Amino acid sequence: MLRISVPATSANIGPGFDVFGLAIEMKNEFVFSHADSFDEDNLVYQAFKRAYERLGLEPEPIKVEINAEVPMARGLGSSSTCVVAGVAAALYRIRGEINKDFLLDIATDIEGHPDNVAPAIFGNLVVSVMDESKVYYTIHKLHDDLKFLTIIPDFELATEKAREILPGVISRADGIYNVSRACLLVPALEVLDEQKIRVGLKDRFHEPYRKSLIPGYDEVKKAAIKLGAIGCYLSGAGPTMMCITTADNTAVFDGLSEYLKSAFPSWQINAFNIDKKGIVVIEE
Ligand code: HSE
Repeated sequence: MLRISVPATSANIGPGFDVFGLAIEMKNEFVFSHADSFDEDNLVYQAFKRAYERLGLEPEPIKVEINAEVPMARGLGSSSTCVVAGVAAALYRIRGEINKDFLLDIATDIEGHPDNVAPAIFGNLVVSVMDESKVYYTIHKLHDDLKFLTIIPDFELATEKAREILPGVISRADGIYNVSRACLLVPALEVLDEQKIRVGLKDRFHEPYRKSLIPGYDEVKKAAIKLGAIGCYLSGAGPTMMCITTADNTAVFDGLSEYLKSAFPSWQINAFNIDKKGIVVIEE
């Protein structure tokens, strides 16, 4: 039996569209056991089979049970947890170990972009770049006093739908706007420089377009900042909004909980630390 846990991830982090992602301490757990045939078709099995195919092997049937904490289609990398777990299970079965770089290449090939799968594998904040068919990445350990508040709306938002509304072409001014802020943001998160984080989170590639799909986006963000959050961004393709705070975040958390109770009573708010481990595989 193989027990694999994979953390939730929050991609983009403002200006780093399809490049930045961070892992938080919320996870999906996958328990793989031997089977005589695949009992259904789901993303975990598809990823498992793709890894075998990539190595030119015939997939051996397996069964998976999932204990899910990560909500689906909310911008927290739920599908990436399935892809990473499926590929990891296959690699472990074939080779008795997991090469994380190889796992990243196969998982990115399946996902289409590396920004969720990379932190799901390595934990922390990961900057990842696709060059031809290989992923190049850097792992960044963020300041220990940073906390992340997830504000999860009560509806799903499909990534394809949230990508469809983005413009195909961006202006030079918007390109410079995002590249400069992306470069500022990562070191600012490492040393916890609040002012630079606030400026570095600003984005013109996706948030201005996607926020129209989330009722109350601007109001919730304004409330979070007013209550003392360092910043707030659209997590992945949304609809989850992620607020970055310092460790002393009781006022922001309590204030936002009160605000949501009256404005959006079925939305959920939770506080998380960054996940530093990434995927964990235990053979039992
Ligand atoms: N970078 C992706 C997007 C993340 O924003 O569409 C969602 O999977």
